[in-house]
Amino acid sequence: MASQTQRKVPVAHTITTIGGTPPQEAMVDKIVKAFTITPEYLEEITQHFLSEMKKGLNEEDQTIAMIPSFVEGRLTGEEVGQFLALDLGGTNLRVVLVDLQGRGNFTTKSTKYKVSDSLKTGDVKDLYNFIADCIDSFLTEHNLDYGTADIHLGYTFSFPVYQSKINRGLQKQWTKGFNCSGAIGKDPVILLQDALAKKHVPVLVSALVNDTVGTLLSNAYSKPDTNAGIIFGTGSNGAYIEKMSSIKKWKGGPTSSDEMIINMEFGAFDNERVVLPVTPWDNKLDRESINPHKQIFEKMISGMYLGEIARNVLLELVDRTLLFEGYSSKELNSQWGFETTYMSTIEADQGDSLKETHRVLSSSLNIPKVSEVDCRIVKRVCDLVGTRAARLAAAAIAGIARQSSSVQNGCDIGIDGSLYEFYPSFEQRIEQGLVELFPDVPDINKRIRLGLAKDGSGVGAALCACVAKKMAERRPSV
Ligand code: BGC
Repeated sequence: MASQTQRKVPVAHTITTIGGTPPQEAMVDKIVKAFTITPEYLEEITQHFLSEMKKGLNEEDQTIAMIPSFVEGRLTGEEVGQFLALDLGGTNLRVVLVDLQGRGNFTTKSTKYKVSDSLKTGDVKDLYNFIADCIDSFLTEHNLDYGTADIHLGYTFSFPVYQSKINRGLQKQWTKGFNCSGAIGKDPVILLQDALAKKHVPVLVSALVNDTVGTLLSNAYSKPDTNAGIIFGTGSNGAYIEKMSSIKKWKGGPTSSDEMIINMEFGAFDNERVVLPVTPWDNKLDRESINPHKQIFEKMISGMYLGEIARNVLLELVDRTLLFEGYSSKELNSQWGFETTYMSTIEADQGDSLKETHRVLSSSLNIPKVSEVDCRIVKRVCDLVGTRAARLAAAAIAGIARQSSSVQNGCDIGIDGSLYEFYPSFEQRIEQGLVELFPDVPDINKRIRLGLAKDGSGVGAALCACVAKKMAERRPSV
């Protein structure tokens, strides 16, 4: 089955009138100002993004790391075979069996496993023992027995890693709520392979792949004009195809192609805070996160964080007695207590009485008294936080499009992640941002074709394992 691109995402319904008291209106105006990014400002952000991309291509250790993925050249569509994929770094751990059948066709079977918070923040050895057990039980569950041959596995590891080969790299840092000890500076492939060996699990980790690289590959499998893969999910990042001649920092010797996929790690963009419109509510989130001062762009645009930004805004309104008559609840007072999925429900809510918004606030968040004005204020806040995220996402896409000169010829961009897939009007808001960023290209949304790339971490990792095999055949030393 080819990847699904048809989906029905609810539309966001924006409200313009709050109908509050003068102090409420004044505070809402202040919040609107803090979150609004004008077209001119969006252009400024995009230009800075582009110049940071170039820095990352020229030298090591730049804010946007621009990590060569060691995936050389493009897919042919002829990639076939059975591969395992392991996906760590999204909401769940997943083991996937992928049967590549060529030309964008494939079947998958997968099992999800919950990674507890203690595993996410404990000793990395415990995490890898757990993963090895999951792979072992997956093989049993699916009756996978390859005789004496090891099963090839593509490992989607969705954290920053400096790669040195297609199946080698050193972990740079953790993101998205993971913070295990004993992992930084180590090779995730070796840690996984050792844990598998100890348990005699017959699996060979043949490719290490970032989820964005996997997304690019899985999209390219059926759409050969793909030149980028992006995740707007729990975290955010992008990968795109770059000319070797533009990767000035490359010291990896001759390659089998004049192009390579770059894992940008753009979540770290503007950690220096030169250009991003960081508000006090973003600062509060950052300060209280487990990785302060890091991944600032990611924290403004990703599913893990949007609810928390909105919660910080709402609590300030409560503290000023401008919302819920000054009352909060245990849920609203708790870090991460206002989930991004609540924002989705609230953004999609329509009609005068905003029933769904009222239900979320009174039933899910246990706020004692909720008025219609309160509902409208909360809806406005969600709209502002969600719209800013999508517009910043557009700046990143525009940066990639400009760097890879894909506007003239047109290109497909595969996108995966819960925000892109489910958040109301996220895609339309990105498209609006692109229209503003390319005023001279009237059909920009036909030239830069965004589309859902389902299961980049599974199918993409399998494709990467397949590419690794082909590259090894072409160049025996790899
Ligand atoms: C990680 C990236 C990953 C992205 C999306 C970020 O936190 O640093 O490696 O691609 O999340 O999962």
